[in-house]
Amino acid sequence: MSESTTFPSFLDGRVVVKMGDITQEAVDAVVNAANGTLLGGGGVDGAIHRAGGPAILEECRNIRATRYPDGLPTGGAVLTTAGRMPARHVIHTVGPVYGSGGPDKAEMLAQCYRNSLSIAVEAGLATVAFPAISTGIYGYPMDEAAAVSSQAIQDALRSNPSVEEVRLVFFLPQDAEVFVRHQVFDAEDN
Ligand code: APR
Repeated sequence: MSESTTFPSFLDGRVVVKMGDITQEAVDAVVNAANGTLLGGGGVDGAIHRAGGPAILEECRNIRATRYPDGLPTGGAVLTTAGRMPARHVIHTVGPVYGSGGPDKAEMLAQCYRNSLSIAVEAGLATVAFPAISTGIYGYPMDEAAAVSSQAIQDALRSNPSVEEVRLVFFLPQDAEVFVRHQVFDAEDN
């Protein structure tokens, strides 16, 4: 399967599913699956910091020094520059670790999508690209995550017409296929 493979769109085209490297997306904001330190990591976090360059980490360090001295809580989201990437901004959010104890994993994952889109609305951003938050190192099963993320995105888009497009960018073809099979978007967006 190549990147040119097309997947269905949802909510009258406001949600686009695609394969690729999220750091290449020319959108108002790409969402980063960060950790609470906001100081980088592996996976998509590492890719975003590598592609965007030091300006991103500089702003993250400032956010830690001022607003979140103890780190960004799970479900939280913050906005920074996207540095050298085609996108204008990065929205960093911290997904739940699937295997850990603590609060309801699905609710925390939904918070990541809700809070990221709230930040986009507040900042007047119309196009946002998401990776599959928590489905890599944090171990959230893609099928379960698909139901949670699609419901949260649908609710947010229904309440916020200013968000014109959400791109769901999957690194692996099988992940995009699993998402499409398990998403719960309404068939007809009335
Ligand atoms: N573009 C799009 N998606 C990507 C990319 C990329 N360049 N790189 C990885 N992914 C996908 C993975 O295949 C996975 O489906 O992003 C999804 C999220 O995986 P992770 O990046 O591992 O994020 P997560 O599971 O939320 O774990 C977060 O990993 O990188 C560290 O610092 C991060 O500690 C945090 C943890």
